[in-house]
Amino acid sequence: MRKTLLSLFLLCHFAALAQQQEPKVNKMQWFDDAKLGIFIHWGIYSVHGIDESWSFFNGYLSHEEYMQQKEGFTASKYDPEAWAQMIASSGAKYAVLTTKHHDGMALWPTNAGGLNVVEHTPAGRDLVGPFMQALEKRGVKKGAYFSMLDWSHPHYDRITRDEFRYKNDPKRFSRFVDFNFSQIKELSAQYDPDLFWFDGDWEHKPEEWKSKELKEQILAHNTAAIINSRIGGGLGDYATPEQGVPISKPSAPFWELCLTTNENWGYQPTDTAFKTPSELLRIFVDCLKMGGNLLMNIAPREDGTFPDEVHGIMDEFGRWTQKHAPAVYGVKAGIPDGHVYAATSLDPKEKILYVYLDSKVKESLVIKGLKNKINRIWVVGHGAKLEHKVRGKQYWSTVPGLVYIDIPEEVYDPSITVLAILLDGPFDLYREAGSVIEDN
Ligand code: GLC
Repeated sequence: MRKTLLSLFLLCHFAALAQQQEPKVNKMQWFDDAKLGIFIHWGIYSVHGIDESWSFFNGYLSHEEYMQQKEGFTASKYDPEAWAQMIASSGAKYAVLTTKHHDGMALWPTNAGGLNVVEHTPAGRDLVGPFMQALEKRGVKKGAYFSMLDWSHPHYDRITRDEFRYKNDPKRFSRFVDFNFSQIKELSAQYDPDLFWFDGDWEHKPEEWKSKELKEQILAHNTAAIINSRIGGGLGDYATPEQGVPISKPSAPFWELCLTTNENWGYQPTDTAFKTPSELLRIFVDCLKMGGNLLMNIAPREDGTFPDEVHGIMDEFGRWTQKHAPAVYGVKAGIPDGHVYAATSLDPKEKILYVYLDSKVKESLVIKGLKNKINRIWVVGHGAKLEHKVRGKQYWSTVPGLVYIDIPEEVYDPSITVLAILLDGPFDLYREAGSVIEDN
């Protein structure tokens, strides 16, 4: 009897433990499958259209001049439902809004102190809540960008590149850290973000930020919340390379490239250097190829409207991701370089090889070193089945032949064409350097 009770107790104990740990194990799943997120940089810097926060830090204008932009920040045409709709239609599965940038101007009615658009600008209302709700309604995951450093706060040590309020005063700095904790607590309680996107950790050590405790506070509210690397101290769930597409697959198990659509994070009317939708799609495919996500930035004007270029980009992403959905969501990194001169990815079972073609091939596409038999090839989102032939395969040799795939003109997508190659089992590659054949 005693024994049975003990085993029952142990069983319940372990079941409870397993349950507690479950969200930790699975919490990255949606992020890993999502592939595309939209970053939004919105703040008073959109009034003059100048560098977000950095413009006063770098001395392009004084802090006072920068802050005068408050008067012009109206959000007068802000339509959070339309924003969320545009994001959902683009095929993005999550969005990250700058709830507070390095200038310290919170976009929500914070009670923790500091600046916020509700009290200090004509916008006069919460800009975070309605957007988060609109995202949630559409099944888009909610992300909150939050700058750890705040160059405007009376308890933060730094003001600009050369100016400090104080130095080496841990007591005063810890008052600032308390303020950060309060603001994050508000964000958790009021909007329950699925993802926290920290930034600006580089000015202090993780121990000074209390990064570990901050993470604990977030997880105490929501065990499934995802946190990016910039919380510091190696405590984040994923890496955040910025602007430059990695050349080879990053070693972090999860990563996300954050990228501007033109040259700046915030709205700048003088910056017309937008990447074309096709250039951006090719960057996106590069991320898919290396098993990462793209967090693509768009920047509204102070009134909450977006430039036409942004709409053009979002529309084209919507068209392409919808047409190619099986070759986007949930795919794994592709096969190593060298087998085919195109980006590739694999379906979760590693039986379908997706090949992304950003140009038309001459005569036929060649794949080398593929040991599998090919069961079928079709054009994703088009449906056409394609013929292939194998050349140079000797029946007595383990070296696979060359696969040639004919691609008729009419199946090409205006941007990136995707082939799905169904293999006879999980992919199997010939990776040798090759050697002399001494007997035929
Ligand atoms: C940088 C900049 C910041 C921008 C961020 C986005 O860290 O400090 O202005 O918001 O990158 O990734």
